[in-house]
Amino acid sequence: MKKRCLSGMRPSGKLHLGHLHGVLDNWKRLQEEYECFFFVADWHALTTNYKNAWEIPENIVDMVLDWLAVGIDPEKATLFIQSDIKEHAELHLILSMITPLGWLERNPTYKEQKQQLKDKDISTYGFLGYPVLQAADIIMYKANKVPVGIDQLPHVELTREITRRFNYLYGEIFPVPDALLAETPKLPGLDGRKMSKSYGNSIFISDSPEEVTKKIMTMVTDVERPRKSDPGDPEKRCVAFNLLKLYLPEERLKEIVADCKAAKLGCVACKKELAKAIVEFLEPVWEKREKFSKSSDTIHEILKEGGERARKEAQKTMAQAREALWSRNVRSD
Ligand code: TRP
Repeated sequence: MKKRCLSGMRPSGKLHLGHLHGVLDNWKRLQEEYECFFFVADWHALTTNYKNAWEIPENIVDMVLDWLAVGIDPEKATLFIQSDIKEHAELHLILSMITPLGWLERNPTYKEQKQQLKDKDISTYGFLGYPVLQAADIIMYKANKVPVGIDQLPHVELTREITRRFNYLYGEIFPVPDALLAETPKLPGLDGRKMSKSYGNSIFISDSPEEVTKKIMTMVTDVERPRKSDPGDPEKRCVAFNLLKLYLPEERLKEIVADCKAAKLGCVACKKELAKAIVEFLEPVWEKREKFSKSSDTIHEILKEGGERARKEAQKTMAQAREALWSRNVRSD
């Protein structure tokens, strides 16, 4: 039997190249090897965005379109929306009973986000319980592997602790999941900081060829090379080089490095070439996105069908979890 892999993404709307190469490429690989569940974590989005809840459904469609466009395949992976499976709420509730407050208060992402999102009032019960909901998502499907970025490691660690606690109190129902840390290429945005929607430095998967080209032409290169006649050092200093590495073939890269160091190739010409390569790379993605976005039914059907498959699993698990919870068990203390 194939091992199970599960991951979720908060619906933040259109995805950018950072998501594509940091997360989705990995999901694409995993869907070949594991039985995968990929879901839209809309209740998680609500923990920080409850004041603008209405934005979330719109963002779901934009995000899932990007998933499908880049090759997440509903024939291979089960795609669904968290809030369609009410069992997540029930399991979250049960787990919340056994999760010590201290574990949540110590959670580094909780402390960090409360610092960073000062403009949002997230001193809420729901936000503190964010990792409890995440634990419910994961163990509901008895997932063995959870592909996440490094920022999510504390949540998987908490999931492991909560799972062990449930199993200890009520019986061995849930496998303890492992995080699967992907090797993600460093993908800077146009200004050299990490690509992020909130920095306004992103190239979106759904940008037009003109937008991609325009954005690339504004990208920071080697700041110590103001003129073409100055020799550059792309591997050390050029921001755009991080993208070149992803989109151009090895041999061409070598030539570019040599020509840049020899002050023969200017940044404008180089970025034109980069823009062209990205556009070529994205062309089939755009085609697919267009196809899916023309029939908005399709996307809803995919999520509905995935939801049905997920629900079956969730119902099975919850029957076991309830049975374990309410029966006198063999624990000997
Ligand atoms: N918290 C995750 C994030 O922000 C999203 C998420 C919710 C998730 N539930 C999950 C990821 C379960 C992996 C498994 O990225």
